Amino acid sequence: MKPARQDIEIILEQYPRHPQHLINLLQDVQAEYSYISAEHLTLICDHVGVPVTQAWSVATFYKSFSLEPRGEHEIKVCLGTTCHLKGGQRLVEACERNLGVARGQTTDDLKFTLDTVKCVGACALAPVVMVDEDYLGEANMVILKKRLEQV
Ligand code: FES
Repeated sequence: MKPARQDIEIILEQYPRHPQHLINLLQDVQAEYSYISAEHLTLICDHVGVPVTQAWSVATFYKSFSLEPRGEHEIKVCLGTTCHLKGGQRLVEACERNLGVARGQTTDDLKFTLDTVKCVGACALAPVVMVDEDYLGEANMVILKKRLEQV
């Protein structure tokens, strides 16, 4: 069972009020809530004393931060060269049809976020799909659907 979410104030109190802690706070809030809401971004900025525009620039620069709600599970279809040649693009399109979202989007029930990545270093298993931290090699929709039923 997932532990209860920390209150944002508890996260803020872990860092001194200084701009050097901006990225640490963004990381902690991202880890806790799976995304950084506008309200949380403002609270972080008030705490460390940086303008919201600066924090927004940082949060949009790094791909690991999201300003939109993310799904409970992340599906990442590899579109590196090898996976692309072995059907990665068709897998992405099949995922989009099955989940009813485009790449980069999250399902309405907040269960899945669909993304693409460039080579996850497992080219011998192409095409590869990651579901959270798990690699699915020689992936197809049958394998992927089975895996998604287990999460
Ligand atoms: S191209 Fe997909 S794992 Fe390398």
